[in-house]
Amino acid sequence: MIRSILIHPDPRLKKPCAPVAAVTDEVRALGADMLSTMYAAPGIGLAAPQVGVLSRVIVMDCVKDPELPPRPMVLLNPQVIWASEEMNTYDEGCLSIPDQYAEVDRPAVVTVRWMDLEGVTQEETFDGLWATCVQHEIDHLNGKLFIDYLGPLKRQMITRRMEKLKRERAREGV
Ligand code: NI
Repeated sequence: MIRSILIHPDPRLKKPCAPVAAVTDEVRALGADMLSTMYAAPGIGLAAPQVGVLSRVIVMDCVKDPELPPRPMVLLNPQVIWASEEMNTYDEGCLSIPDQYAEVDRPAVVTVRWMDLEGVTQEETFDGLWATCVQHEIDHLNGKLFIDYLGPLKRQMITRRMEKLKRERAREGV
């Protein structure tokens, strides 16, 4: 089931999310819905607060080459346990901030620990786009958006554009 994606500014995008205590049918359904919603958008990552659920769940698939098989991932309670000193700059966007992009610096390589949908702890080191994406999504679980890395003027400009977009959508009844 495709869920609707909240658009910034929204108080639910600014709140820290609660850990997932156990893998329930509800959590499995949330993961599946988030993947469908992400692929439909289309996007490469999505965090639960973006669909209005304040729970520490993210999904991602950064395989961009259509020749390669997709790699849908659902990560519960993800945390960065190691980050490289080397940084990487990427022109980031967000499904909650449509059509707005800005350069953000983040560690180039990160090791992340999470619980999978079988309840098993996993650990993996990500680089490239995967590293940027997983850090961006984990930020969402702490109420942080990529625009929070920008200067106040740029952030306010983007926020005003989003307020206008939301007014237009409300008028159109979308
Ligand atoms: Ni985002």
